[in-house]
Amino acid sequence: MMNTPENTLYIRMGGEATLQKLVTLFYDKVAKHPDLAPIFPDDLTLTAEKQYKFLSQFFGGPPLYSQEYGHPMLRARHLPFEITPTRAKAWLACMHETLDQMELDKQVKDEMLSRFTTTAYHMMNTPE
Ligand code: HEM
Repeated sequence: MMNTPENTLYIRMGGEATLQKLVTLFYDKVAKHPDLAPIFPDDLTLTAEKQYKFLSQFFGGPPLYSQEYGHPMLRARHLPFEITPTRAKAWLACMHETLDQMELDKQVKDEMLSRFTTTAYHMMNTPE
C-alpha cells in the first residue's frame, strides 16, 4: 500500500485513538521490563505524551512533536542512555506485544513494525 498524503499510515491505523492506546499499552510494558525500566523515569506520563506526539508525525499525521520540541534529533536525544542490542530488542519486543494486543490490520501492523525496527536499531549506541 502506498503512503500517499491522503492515505498515510497514520490514517490507515486509525490516527489519534490508535496511537493513544498504543503508547499507554507500550509504556505499561516498558515499566515492567527488567532491561528497560532502569533507564526510564519512574513516572512515564511525559515520556508517553512525547512518544504519542512523535509517532503522530513519524507515521504521517500532524507534526505535534516538532511544533512543541523542535527537530526530533532522535538519535542525539537517546545518547544519554546506554542503548545496547539487548535493550533495542527488548524495546521492539514490547512494541511487538503491544501491536499484537491491538486490533490492527496485518498489513498496517507489519509496516509499523518494520519502521520501528529500523529506527530502534538506529538508536543503538553502546555494545553489550
Ligand atoms: C532502541 C531502544 C530504545 C530505547 C532503550 C529507548 C529509550 C528511551 C529513553 C530512556 C528515553 C527517555 C525517556 C524520558 O526521559 O522521558 C527515550 C525517549 C524517547 N524515545 Fe526512545 N528508546 C528506544 C527506541 C526508540 C524508538 C524506536 C523511537 C521511535 C520510533 C523512540 C522515540 C522516543 C521519543 C520520541 C522520546 C522522547 C524524546 C524527548 O525527550 O523529547 N525511542 N527513549
